[in-house]
Amino acid sequence: MVLFIDTANLDEIKEVSTWGYVKGVTTNPSLIAKEGLSQKDIITKIVTLVDGPISAEVTAEDYEGMIKQGEELFAIDPKHIVIKLPMTNEGLKACAYFAKKKIPTNVTLCFSPAQALLAMESGATYVSPFLGRLDDAGWDAIQLIKDIVTMKKNYGYETKIICASIRNVAHVTNCALAGGDIATVPYKVLAKLIKHPLTDAGLESFAKDAAKTPKN
Ligand code: E4P
Repeated sequence: MVLFIDTANLDEIKEVSTWGYVKGVTTNPSLIAKEGLSQKDIITKIVTLVDGPISAEVTAEDYEGMIKQGEELFAIDPKHIVIKLPMTNEGLKACAYFAKKKIPTNVTLCFSPAQALLAMESGATYVSPFLGRLDDAGWDAIQLIKDIVTMKKNYGYETKIICASIRNVAHVTNCALAGGDIATVPYKVLAKLIKHPLTDAGLESFAKDAAKTPKN
């Protein structure tokens, strides 16, 4: 399963871009708002840091506005920008428009198999089911990923599933076990994926033993 970082923070993106296993970025209006810069300024900087898909979300609510804003965002870097669109009828109309033009899209705020089906039928490049927010509301988020995976298999949709709203390491591993294509993960959780107390203990004892070993 491919890993993206879910952030608009340039320091976090700079750091994970050196790790090698983080292959793309997703942003949203709330993440952008935390950074104190315009969306255009932030996205223009992110595309210089990451050679992978970068989702930039439209904030317009009407079809024409989404097309205009989406085209402006796409023009920042047609090699990397993915236009993120909301799960609304206007968003899905815009998704179909961009699909015809072979411009990549990510339909966000997906909380049900039916919504995912509509995104896939609209030609979305990516669909983003939100795990954490579903869990908070008492729904079975991993079952949603399994259901979307089954739909993809049943009909051969090419839409990739981005498991989003990730809150912990178990979300990441359970999404991988359920067959999600990608997980977009906040920095704090990404940094925890490599951690295990037995790895730390092993490193400590190897370092102690290495120090006792005669040098040439
Ligand atoms: C997805 O692309 C969104 O940016 C994101 O994962 C939302 O997560 P949250 O529920 O932590 O805000």
